[in-house]
Amino acid sequence: MKLIDGKKISTQIKEELSQEVLKLKQDFPNGPGLAVILVGDDPASQVYVRNKQRSCQQIGIRSIEHKLPAQTSEEDLLQLVKDLNNDKNVDGILVQLPLPKHIDEDKVIESIEPTKDVDGFHPTNVGKMMIGQETFLPCTPYGIQELLRYSNIETSGKHVVVVGRSNIVGKPIAMMMVQKGTTANATVTITHSRTADLTAECQRADILIAAIGMPKFIKGNMVKDGVVVIDVGINRIKDCSTKTGTRLVGDVDFEEVSQKASAITPVPGGVGPMTIAMLMVNTISSFKRRNNLK
Ligand SMILES: NC(=O)c1ccc[n+]([C@@H]2O[C@H](COP(=O)([O-])OP(=O)(O)OC[C@H]3O[C@@H](n4cnc5c(N)ncnc54)[C@H](OP(=O)(O)O)[C@@H]3O)[C@@H](O)[C@H]2O)c1
Repeated sequence: MKLIDGKKISTQIKEELSQEVLKLKQDFPNGPGLAVILVGDDPASQVYVRNKQRSCQQIGIRSIEHKLPAQTSEEDLLQLVKDLNNDKNVDGILVQLPLPKHIDEDKVIESIEPTKDVDGFHPTNVGKMMIGQETFLPCTPYGIQELLRYSNIETSGKHVVVVGRSNIVGKPIAMMMVQKGTTANATVTITHSRTADLTAECQRADILIAAIGMPKFIKGNMVKDGVVVIDVGINRIKDCSTKTGTRLVGDVDFEEVSQKASAITPVPGGVGPMTIAMLMVNTISSFKRRNNLK
């Protein structure tokens, strides 16, 4: 069984990116800039934003931080996005989700200039991805595809089963795997909570991608021998043996499934670090596109 080491692969990608940024800065001393907007004080969001800023620093990307109070009005947030859309020094805009309930998330996402939408959530970019045009790919699915590519896992003609149909993971990864091209050309099944016989669907998978949000949900009896498993889930469970009393687990029962898998991602250290690395890739792509560089 091969462990797909997302931490190692993402570190390699980030090292390559920092070399690229160094070169870009010879002609463009300002370099790429990523604006990150955080509304409110959700602890998980704060951690994600901090990790994104740290990666920016490592690579040499300017991180432009906007921390707004939870009671910020939708109007003020939309105005900030508008200002960032018009700011020539900003190449990427990321609004950390979820937003407080009084703000319409779809409206905010749609207000981001598509050429700066490094999360790949704007409907224009989702549409482009769907029809196979060049665009920003959403970071988590993009990270999954890169994990498969770096691990030399053949996807062409393989049966990929995706568990979960969210707009940020399940649906886009399914759509990306079915495209014509490298690390794609797969036959894809999307499953969800209304799927009639989930076990039977999962057992047909050559590559199983789990994005459910339920700890250790995929059991050993649900997969076939030799399956490749990508575990997107991040779930915090109680564990008295740790200092904090909790630990992170995926949507896959690693102990059981790794007995049958030919390759599997761990949690933590699998898809998670790749998501941030792909955000960095998208920000640099945006910078190059906006400066007419190849
Ligand atoms: N590693 C990363 O960077 C990263 C990024 C994003 C998310 N995540 C993690 O990935 C997980 C999924 O995130 P998400 O945003 O995609 O979640 P989500 O929006 O809550 O979607 C979960 C999906 O799982 C399906 N589901 C729930 N119970 C099921 C069941 N019993 N059988 C089959 N399908 C079931 C749901 O089906 P219905 O649509 O029918 O309700 C839904 O489509 C979470 O743990 C999240 O923290 C990780």
